[in-house]
Amino acid sequence: MTASFEGQRALVTGAGHGIGRGIAREFARLGATVLGVDVNAAGLEETAAGQDGLATATLDVTDAVAVQAVVADFGAADILVHSAGGVCGQAGKPAETVTLPEWQAILAVNLTGAFLMAQAVIPAMKAARYGRIVNISSGAGIGVSLTGIQAYAAAKAGEIGLTRQLAHELGQFGITVNSVAPGFVRSNPTTERQWEAYGAEGQRRLVEGIATRRLGTVADIVNAVLFFASDRSGWISGQTLSVDGGK
Ligand SMILES: NC(=O)c1ccc[n+]([C@@H]2O[C@H](COP(=O)([O-])OP(=O)(O)OC[C@H]3O[C@@H](n4cnc5c(N)ncnc54)[C@H](O)[C@@H]3O)[C@@H](O)[C@H]2O)c1
Repeated sequence: MTASFEGQRALVTGAGHGIGRGIAREFARLGATVLGVDVNAAGLEETAAGQDGLATATLDVTDAVAVQAVVADFGAADILVHSAGGVCGQAGKPAETVTLPEWQAILAVNLTGAFLMAQAVIPAMKAARYGRIVNISSGAGIGVSLTGIQAYAAAKAGEIGLTRQLAHELGQFGITVNSVAPGFVRSNPTTERQWEAYGAEGQRRLVEGIATRRLGTVADIVNAVLFFASDRSGWISGQTLSVDGGK
């Protein structure tokens, strides 16, 4: 997609690596003024390297006070993309062995982070009577998670519910809220470990279970985000788009 985001201001969480990095760089390449935030300062440096229009700030999206401060510093945003998330280094295990901190950590970054970031950008979007909020959820929030992690499936389903509810509340102010649900993308250490663990036969089965017979790329996810963030999706809100190559 070749939309221009000239003159627009975009805030991207999880911009220090993977999908969030791809989103932040593409918005900047297409003319937006971008702030990428992440807990990973070194990752943010790599994201910003050689890309005009892309500033970064370290931010833990689960810290409500810090979120308000960073967003106030940036000023009014036209676009928010919440890509920070994932499984916090955890692996699937039986529900009865999951500790409360493990459960809470995943809920905090994926779901609470989405809520806190939206809360922080909404007042200026309402004042401008324009806004685009895009949450990166997951196929894990729609069906069963390949990770086997209960909190991840629950948090991603929660992100989809939050998307629907905020869309209902904010549409009257010219703000759309949508979600992109990626399938398997080898974009982070967890998916790399998962991919290796499948072995050749498991990898072949995974790819054969995808209608288009290939894994997704960061660019595949970025393209869907650009659509939801653009003027071309002005009458679409509350939706979750599976970007997974088809079943
Ligand atoms: N890669 C996949 O296969 C896949 C599939 C479905 C959904 N997703 C979702 O897409 C999003 C991006 O995934 P990715 O593959 O780019 O992962 P990634 O690990 O490469 O990127 C996630 C980023 O979020 C940051 N982050 C984690 N906790 C944070 C916090 N509290 N505050 C701020 N930043 C924080 C990390 O430092 C990291 O840079 C995640 O929400 C993930 O759940 C990924």
